[in-house]
Amino acid sequence: MNLSPELQRDSVNDGDIDVMEERFNDAKKYMKEFLPLSVLEENTPMLASSLISPSTAQYFHNFYQQYHKEWDNSTALLLELGGGPCIYSYVSAVPHVAKIYHSDYVKANLDEVSMWKNKDPDAFDWSPYFKHVVQKLEGRTSSCAVLEREDKLRSLLRLIPCDIKADVIAPAVTIPVDILSSSFCLGSSYDTLEEYKVGLKKVYDMITPNGFFVSQTTIHLTWFKHGNKMYYAAFSLSLEDVKQYYKEAGFNVLHADTWSKPKELITGSISAAEYAFVVARK
Ligand SMILES: C[S@@+](CC[C@H](N)C(=O)[O-])C[C@H]1O[C@@H](n2cnc3c(N)ncnc32)[C@H](O)[C@@H]1O
Repeated sequence: MNLSPELQRDSVNDGDIDVMEERFNDAKKYMKEFLPLSVLEENTPMLASSLISPSTAQYFHNFYQQYHKEWDNSTALLLELGGGPCIYSYVSAVPHVAKIYHSDYVKANLDEVSMWKNKDPDAFDWSPYFKHVVQKLEGRTSSCAVLEREDKLRSLLRLIPCDIKADVIAPAVTIPVDILSSSFCLGSSYDTLEEYKVGLKKVYDMITPNGFFVSQTTIHLTWFKHGNKMYYAAFSLSLEDVKQYYKEAGFNVLHADTWSKPKELITGSISAAEYAFVVARK
């Protein structure tokens, strides 16, 4: 991955270990555990650790269908904040934006997305997700349509480092953006609730007037397991909390909804079974 010098960041260390690097440094393992694309197939049972479901693809599809006329598609910028190794959240955005900045704190995650962008044979295979969105949700059934969407995304995609805990979260060249998208990052990466609230205000400042904030948050998360390690959430959020804190940051909440896993799936991976999708506007 090539980053221009001004976008490079030094690793922020906690003692000798960079906690985030350590927690999220195995992109393939993360995707295998939390992003099993098999859940998109009909009649496939939900997996306990999955952060994704058919509802996820539907939510993003609905958002871009409903709101893309609210911005200029030929110039619109989208920033994915804390995108990890995942590109699913903006597959539906591709026809409606001019550039997509994918950001994360962990270099291994940016490298994984870079591999996909560069068609590296070892890159994660997102084609089931593209097929689901383009063929099933958008009704474009030719295999060309899927490949075109993948290629268009490759051409729009830029990779940048970010740090949601820093004074300046993302490089200045990328902001303000028309759409800021963030999934499962803000609600789980801050050390205190106060930091989360300050972070939301910074996110607000990174969006153009009338721009959109489209987000996913795990509800009632207290702990989760990644590999053999247990991690504990610094604070836990209800859907009402999320809406309230977005409003306090200045946003107008347009849509707030959740999908849930069957409770019997709450076994060894994660304490939460409910995932919120919230659309807010500046
Ligand atoms: C639970 S993962 C979510 C990844 C992806 N958005 C998804 O939907 O699966 C949380 C992400 O937040 C990133 N992250 C953690 N701390 C961060 C920080 N200080 N700044 C930016 N990203 C951070 C991690 O590297 C990780 O990719």
